[in-house]
Amino acid sequence: MGWGKWRSRVSCGHPTARSVLLAMLLILTSLFYCLSGYSESAGRRAPAPPGLPATPPPRLSGDGSFGARELPQAIIIGVKKGGTRALLEFLRVHPDVRAAGAETHFFDRFYERGLDWYRSLMPRTLEGQITMEKTPSYFVTREAPRHVYAMNRLTKLIVVVRDPVTRAISDYTQTRTKSPGLPSFQNLAFKNITTGLIDTSWSAVHIGIYAKHLDNWLRYFPLSRFLFVSGERLVADPAGEMGRVQDFLGLKRVVTDKHFYFNQTKGFPCLKKPEGSSRPRCLGKSKGRTHPRIPPDALLRLREFYRPFNLKFYQMTGLNFGWD
Ligand SMILES: *[C@@H]1O[C@H](CO)[C@@H](O)[C@H](O)[C@H]1NC(C)=O
Ligand SMILES: *[C@@H]1O[C@H](CO)[C@@H](O)[C@H](O)[C@H]1NC(C)=O
Repeated sequence: MGWGKWRSRVSCGHPTARSVLLAMLLILTSLFYCLSGYSESAGRRAPAPPGLPATPPPRLSGDGSFGARELPQAIIIGVKKGGTRALLEFLRVHPDVRAAGAETHFFDRFYERGLDWYRSLMPRTLEGQITMEKTPSYFVTREAPRHVYAMNRLTKLIVVVRDPVTRAISDYTQTRTKSPGLPSFQNLAFKNITTGLIDTSWSAVHIGIYAKHLDNWLRYFPLSRFLFVSGERLVADPAGEMGRVQDFLGLKRVVTDKHFYFNQTKGFPCLKKPEGSSRPRCLGKSKGRTHPRIPPDALLRLREFYRPFNLKFYQMTGLNFGWD
């Protein structure tokens, strides 16, 4: 749709510049509502009727030409397969949250590109809106805390964690989908299956040693800068967990239980979307990925391996995630 065409159509009935401007503003406003995703306020408010002074249109930043790009004030730093994508999708429902589209990997891969590059990846925001991004590998990257600290030592850090054993299996299952020839889970998880020696250098195992990674972050940030989200509770009670997240971010509790419905077939919660919009966003297992059958003794051994690290993590965070 060309702006010129709209402009000429609008202006032929009312040739004064003032009415053209007013009409343009209305079109922009309604276009924004078409383009923006579901949000509570967007759903309720109608565009101002013609002739009325335009109260500042609520969120014109959606068309890309208003507001400014800011460095994120809050980052979802981990963990892979914890539910970080779902959490960010749920947060995007909030009108005061704007998030980068894809994982930026700035603090782990592209740090040398500099903060201006990083900022250029962020969406435009208006006053009062929070800028966010998520890159789950930050949590396990040695240099990441130092880099985030150098940007802003007040950055809010969100970590979605989940039972490290189920996380590892989910991680492996995803990798196997991409590389079907992958050795079995237990072949990768153990250095020696007979002795039960775990290969902690395998990333699927390594990521789940949360206490170790958190230790690295606590060298730079106090515990109060973190919010630990339970991946399990995000599934069982998404609205409750979202309440904690919004409180932590200093946001009004806009995302509540009325934004979710439970899909009985799937067995997972989904986000309500407006009619005719894209497929529902649901938490939970990705379709078509059958989890591998892992020998019970291997699972038991892995549980034993993680137990002390889990207990340490509960101690450090003051939260019992109930994985044991
Ligand atoms: C595993 O450990 C057993 C017992 O120590 C040893 O006999 C065997 O050679 C080891 N296997 C491998 C592949 O290292
Ligand atoms: C619930 O999940 C099933 C299985 O994935 C799907 O076919 C169905 O469309 C979903 N229903 C709703 C209302 O989301």
